[in-house]
Amino acid sequence: MKRFLVVVGGLLACWAVVAGVEERLEARQLLEAFFTEQGGWEQAIAALPSDIEDQMRICIACHGEGGNSPNREIPSLAGQNPPYFVEQMLVYQRAARYPEMMHLLSEQMEREGILAAALYFAIQPRRVMGEVDHQKGQQGAALYRAYCIHCHGEDGSGANPGYANLRGQRADYLSISMRRFRDRSERRVSHEMAVATLGLSDQQIEELAHYLAGQ
Ligand code: HEC
Ligand code: HEC
Repeated sequence: MKRFLVVVGGLLACWAVVAGVEERLEARQLLEAFFTEQGGWEQAIAALPSDIEDQMRICIACHGEGGNSPNREIPSLAGQNPPYFVEQMLVYQRAARYPEMMHLLSEQMEREGILAAALYFAIQPRRVMGEVDHQKGQQGAALYRAYCIHCHGEDGSGANPGYANLRGQRADYLSISMRRFRDRSERRVSHEMAVATLGLSDQQIEELAHYLAGQ
């Protein structure tokens, strides 16, 4: 029985890893095809529908004006990297991430709507929301360089845009998010982040969060 559970557990872990990778690849392919069709990034931005802001009203209701979140439980979308944004919307379509509301919304969106939302939020300037404790942040700098920099980049904006832009994200949201990964919460499964946060204390997570929020 125990052995069976280990095998099933292993298979589930593999599935989680593969599921994430699949969505990352799909997001990249969708964006590449979209930019080819539109003739490039600038053309794609220029071609956004003129009422895009109205179309995004429902998102803004939670994610804040210009995608800058007024709520610690909700991430800012302003300045988010499009490949990561699209990947997460695909994850939501498959109901593989909390909250349920995001699953319901993403399910109703066509691929084109998701790409337009990704571009619209990517070009909004990210503002600092919530408290930033720069003293705590200083303590996080060395940890960040040791454990995070090769994926999230020199300044947190994503060494490869397939990774999240964490630079200037709300510190309280970053903390909540990292603790979920470390504690292997079912609300969000990421093998890479479970490994990256393994063994971090709550205090170290706070320091990392304030470091990133202050970048
Ligand atoms: C009812 C509130 C609510 C609404 C409305 C809403 N969201 Fe969200 N959204 C959330 C929450 C909560 C999270 C995830 C928080 C977490 O993982 O801790 C989230 C996460 C996301 C993420 C992942 C961001 C990241 O940094 O990982 C994207 C992308 C996103 N939402 C896009 C949208 C879009 C596009 C719309 C409009 C179609 C929208 N959301 C509407 C609450 C909302
Ligand atoms: C091996 C690459 C890798 C490393 C190293 C890594 N991350 Fe991540 N990070 C990811 C991936 C992939 C995701 C998206 C996970 C998902 O799909 O749910 C992510 C997501 C996150 C998120 C959630 C962002 C959001 O908008 O919801 C935070 C916060 C984060 N990482 C912080 C860190 C910190 C701090 C470190 C260092 C302790 C770190 N990461 C190290 C790959 C990495």
